[in-house]
Amino acid sequence: MRTEQPKLIRLVDYQQPDYLIDETHLTFELYEDYALVHAHLVMQRNPALGCDLPRLVLDGVELQLLHLAMDDQVLTAADYQVDAEQLSLQPLRPSFTLDSTVRIEPQNNTALEGLYKSGEMFCTQCEAQGFRKITYYLDRPDVMSSFTTTVIAEKQRYPILLSNGNLIEEGVEDKRHWATWQDPHKKPAYLFAVVAGDLWSVEDSFTTMNGREVTLRIFVEPENIDKCQHAMNSLKKCMRWDEEQYGREYDLDIFMIVAVNDFNMGAMENKGLNIFNSSCVLAKPETSTDAIFQRIESIVAHEYFHNWSGNRVTCRDWFQLSLKEGFTVFRDSEFSADMNSRTVKRIEDATFLRTHQFAEDAGPLAHPVRPPEYMEISNFYTWTIYEKGAEVVRMLHTLLGPERFRQGSDLYFERHDGQAVTCDDFVAAMESVSGMDLTQFKRWYSQAGTPVLRVTDEYDAERQLYHIDIAQSCPATPGQANKQPFVIPVAMGLLGAEGQALSARLQDAEQCVTQDNWVLTLNQAQQRFTFTEVSERPLPSLLRGFSAPVKLHYDYSREQLAFLLQHDSDGFNRWEAAQQLAVQVIEEVCEQLRTHAPVQVDGCLAQSFAAVLNNPHLDTALQAEIISFPSLAYLLELQEQADVQLTDKAREAVRLYLAEQLAEPLQALYNRLREQAKQTQYRPEAEQIGNRRLQAMALSYLTLLQRDDIVAATVAQFEQADNMTERLSALSCLVNSTAQSQAQAALVQFAEEFAHDPLVMDQWFSVQAASSVLGELAHVRQLMQHPSFSIKNPNKVRAVIGAFTQHNLPQFHAEDGSGYVFLAEQVAALDALNPQMSARIITPLTRWQRYTPAQQALMRAQLEQLQALPKLSKDLYEVLERTLA
Ligand code: TRP
Ligand code: ZN
Repeated sequence: MRTEQPKLIRLVDYQQPDYLIDETHLTFELYEDYALVHAHLVMQRNPALGCDLPRLVLDGVELQLLHLAMDDQVLTAADYQVDAEQLSLQPLRPSFTLDSTVRIEPQNNTALEGLYKSGEMFCTQCEAQGFRKITYYLDRPDVMSSFTTTVIAEKQRYPILLSNGNLIEEGVEDKRHWATWQDPHKKPAYLFAVVAGDLWSVEDSFTTMNGREVTLRIFVEPENIDKCQHAMNSLKKCMRWDEEQYGREYDLDIFMIVAVNDFNMGAMENKGLNIFNSSCVLAKPETSTDAIFQRIESIVAHEYFHNWSGNRVTCRDWFQLSLKEGFTVFRDSEFSADMNSRTVKRIEDATFLRTHQFAEDAGPLAHPVRPPEYMEISNFYTWTIYEKGAEVVRMLHTLLGPERFRQGSDLYFERHDGQAVTCDDFVAAMESVSGMDLTQFKRWYSQAGTPVLRVTDEYDAERQLYHIDIAQSCPATPGQANKQPFVIPVAMGLLGAEGQALSARLQDAEQCVTQDNWVLTLNQAQQRFTFTEVSERPLPSLLRGFSAPVKLHYDYSREQLAFLLQHDSDGFNRWEAAQQLAVQVIEEVCEQLRTHAPVQVDGCLAQSFAAVLNNPHLDTALQAEIISFPSLAYLLELQEQADVQLTDKAREAVRLYLAEQLAEPLQALYNRLREQAKQTQYRPEAEQIGNRRLQAMALSYLTLLQRDDIVAATVAQFEQADNMTERLSALSCLVNSTAQSQAQAALVQFAEEFAHDPLVMDQWFSVQAASSVLGELAHVRQLMQHPSFSIKNPNKVRAVIGAFTQHNLPQFHAEDGSGYVFLAEQVAALDALNPQMSARIITPLTRWQRYTPAQQALMRAQLEQLQALPKLSKDLYEVLERTLA
């Protein structure tokens, strides 16, 4: 906590570290009411910087210094200076050792950063700057050291003692025992970890491509030992995939994962000892949905992939965060695409990006993929750094092609193994292998905002020429009024009147993937592309596979969209056509509601959806995606000024209309898929997941019909299904239906059955908080009184407060402003406990400029009240300052 204004840290001020740490030797003495951390550091003056000896400035926060010695000379208060964030002293020689002992209180650490307790377990979270809450150190990623760590704790309470690397020694002394771990790979402090607890583990092994045997171990609290298998399978799959796709081999004899209940984010890639939010590692069919199984697969892979993209090659400074995160998200999403349906994965990623990242990029917190400045780096673990960063890497992949991209990544890992580097170094490797000049491409790293493409076309029948004109622009973002043109790969094809792919020749084509699938490379504000030998007037299929993170406008008629939806050879664009069609139809109903005209829903959507449901050539996963409706959040994101209540009404009206029109095929489909599910042994695999998703989608439409037989079928599914996917989709339908007595009964039964399982209770909480039917504010406040709720547990905060503010938009944006008051209250309460969480859950309020003037005033009032609080964390201070600037 602080009151004076926090400093801005700027990329342009980057300087190499004055001193280096070659060896770090740590000893942790863990007790119930405090911990002692002894550090022995072997240091030297940075040889690159000269032979003078500037003052040594170490980072350290909330540490009680008990002992300090340099070269074994004990120092007294006169020898050093300490303030709330730093300790400084004068070295006398270019090489020296530094010994310190500090006292900390992990049991009182509610920020979940540094060393803390999650339940009965000790664990750490050091990224980005948590290590300074453990000991005095050069807590920056370009200081890389070897680590030897001894952990000492009571044997009975903490039988398992872990740290990075290999176990080299252990022993017992009375009731306490100790273990020493050594990590041979130099690493920055943010990758350090220790764990102590009463944990059970599941063990397996992996033989690397060079025949080395690696022990794999997943540690969990004893009651979760039956929920590890899926994560273990995912781990083995992604280790193999990284060898095959990137030539990356694992580099220690053991790889460990620990599941903890209290964790601010999804998981953390500490070297050889990944620490996971239990929600991102534990699963079994009876308690976990398909979505959770898939999330686990992707997060296990993400953290594992960091071993190379992040750990072996790390970031020079935190401005380069997307160097590891963007690249690693790209890697994990390609892995998921290979393990499941590639098209569906792309649809999920694009939907997510367009709903969340586009909103961020259009608001007051917009920042480039490489931000130029920050106050609190924790605030920059954003959709822009992760998801847009991954899109930037994907565009490089598209521009270079898969082979050269692989050569580029090989070169990057080879050149920079063991180094702390920048985004420029990554791009430079891609330039080296391709001979391309990527200078202009790098604007993606420095300019914020979502580019907008406006596309028009012209067909010259006589000369068989087809022209496409594309104009690109990018809106102003905070601190960036004018933008230079981006390099944008636009993948596209042309369809003939029969729906066939038209072949043609692209004039001056640099990029021609096949005869009928092109990648146009835009690099100017306004550009014309001409195709020759075009035998008929084509219909363009643009931005196939969502080849760039942009908004594209082409004036499609509804007939053309329906045509693309039926015929496009690109699965992504079939889905996209359905989305655009739905958006057009919903917008039309919005306009009718706005002008109090009678509501008339265009029948084109129902016809198209019927065709999709009857199309035997489409897999169920894609069918489900196509008939899944644009979310309210996405629809609002498209509007100039978001009108929550009206858009919700229009969206519901169109959904009801579809349910009525398609009742018969939906019912038949539901019955068939439900019967099939009963006869199938549950497995979290792509084909089954697609079936269950379509089944759930059908049921959610049918629920709108308020028919007793459908309610009965839903209750039966809830009671009889043997897997959580079907049970939860049934529960969600009931909760969002008019059958409230059945919903209540199901909720009570569910809570009794799963009271002992916090991860299932998270689902129970969020299905209610996210429901615009049940999740009135009063009910949400009641949920927070439930014995399973705790504001100190981030998963519970996300399940209740997050679900309400992000997924229950009609109630959160209630016209009296009560939702905003509620969120501000929770932000204030959380800020005193866990600043990373307070600065994150406030996000919906930071989008205040998107709403009607009346709502804006109500939201601003809450933001201003928060800003006036006497004590604000650095995290929340920065978010408020930028939001209200
Ligand atoms: N590096 C982690 C990842 O993306 C992110 C992370 C985990 C994190 N815990 C954190 C970031 C706490 C900031 C604070 O895989
Ligand atoms: Zn990551």
